[in-house]
Amino acid sequence: MRTTWNFNTAGQLVFGRNAIEQIGDRVRQMGARRVLLVTDQTLVEAGLVDRVSTPLSDAGVSVEVFAGGSPEPPLHAVNDAIAAARDCHAEALLGLGGGSNMDIAKAAAVVLTHGGAVKDYAGDQVVPGPVFPLILVPTTSGTGSEVTAAAVLNDTEQGAKFSILSNHLRARFAVVDPLLTVSCPPAVTAASGIDALSHAVEAYTAVDNEAFPLPAGEVTIYQGRHPLGDVLAERAIGLIGESLRRAVNDGDDLDAREGMALASTLAGMAFSNSGVAVVHALEYPLNDTVHTPHGVGCGLFLPYVMRFTGPARPQQMARIAELLGSGEVVSPDDSAVELAAAAVEKLNADIGIPLRLRDVGVQETQLSAMADKAFTVKRILRVSPRSVAHEDLQAILRAAL
Ligand SMILES: NC(=O)c1ccc[n+]([C@@H]2O[C@H](COP(=O)([O-])OP(=O)(O)OC[C@H]3O[C@@H](n4cnc5c(N)ncnc54)[C@H](O)[C@@H]3O)[C@@H](O)[C@H]2O)c1
Ligand SMILES: [Zn+2]
Repeated sequence: MRTTWNFNTAGQLVFGRNAIEQIGDRVRQMGARRVLLVTDQTLVEAGLVDRVSTPLSDAGVSVEVFAGGSPEPPLHAVNDAIAAARDCHAEALLGLGGGSNMDIAKAAAVVLTHGGAVKDYAGDQVVPGPVFPLILVPTTSGTGSEVTAAAVLNDTEQGAKFSILSNHLRARFAVVDPLLTVSCPPAVTAASGIDALSHAVEAYTAVDNEAFPLPAGEVTIYQGRHPLGDVLAERAIGLIGESLRRAVNDGDDLDAREGMALASTLAGMAFSNSGVAVVHALEYPLNDTVHTPHGVGCGLFLPYVMRFTGPARPQQMARIAELLGSGEVVSPDDSAVELAAAAVEKLNADIGIPLRLRDVGVQETQLSAMADKAFTVKRILRVSPRSVAHEDLQAILRAAL
């Protein structure tokens, strides 16, 4: 029985509109004079790289730009970033972008310090110690990677996603400036925003910390539901209910952008301590099969998974239904599960997230292999408040088809 819990996040968090203007001084304070900015071509063209490099240069920090990032990042992007950092003798890495670029920077930081190959560090708590100085600046509101302990990568040769999970991957500091997300197109706003909701819901409904089924001798960063994760996740769900539709419909709605920026960071703080579960276990094989963006897969699965786990979490389901629905008080009985799941489905429909697996090209014949793969992700399945059998995964997949 686990009776204690702990909480880890980025070393420091700077949040707010125009917060990015402080980045030069903050980098100088950490003693770095040469930074490699890890980003992608879209963000160069959107002018976001200039928004970050100007205050750095003004503070006397020299900046090299690596723009080789790409969505659902392939291993070679990490290797290229490592080579670029060595070439320019960088003293810190600055990951600028959505989860993809931030995760490239995180994985590169591990190898720059500890050597070897990226895949050597796949898994939970394999990274042996502190990593290269890491600064993270999100330009989407979704993954929370700026505060989390994960880097999610794609081994394109094996056709499989994998993660590096370690508290050493937490940023020295993160700058969350909602204004950097204004140029996100609606589809990216929707996919990343619903990912944040899935983080918050999975953390809020996770197995209790006291009951977390950790096998003897295993170490993990996920600990099950605990009071601090709960507070953060609940607030994130409320903010997403208020802001996500507005941010998708009008990207210039700055209050909505700010609400989503805060929500995704709070959800990242919550899930990177409490955990994510069945939604994320199912998203791995979906991504391997039809290459949907991470957020699209998570949003699609979320209501189906809530119908499975909900009966073990009636109180939380009632609260989710209140926060995402009409705001009216919902009693924690069986109907709460359906109200909460339906509220997520309605949100998905309103922001253009596909509602069924067939809508993203999945065939019935692929379900069994997807269930097999998801069933291997035990590290996160054990975070579910209801134990998950292979047949349960098959049933969820069939319902979602
Ligand atoms: N590390 C973690 O804790 C964690 C958590 C969840 C998901 N992930 C991973 O993060 C990745 C998804 O990240 P994401 O949803 O943030 O999307 P993303 O980083 O893949 O970006 C999607 C696209 O949006 C563009 N984009 C990003 N910001 C923009 C902006 N402000 N203006 C214009 N275009 C912009 C990018 O250039 C890219 O083409 C997946 O690989 C997923 O597995 C990581
Ligand atoms: Zn996610």
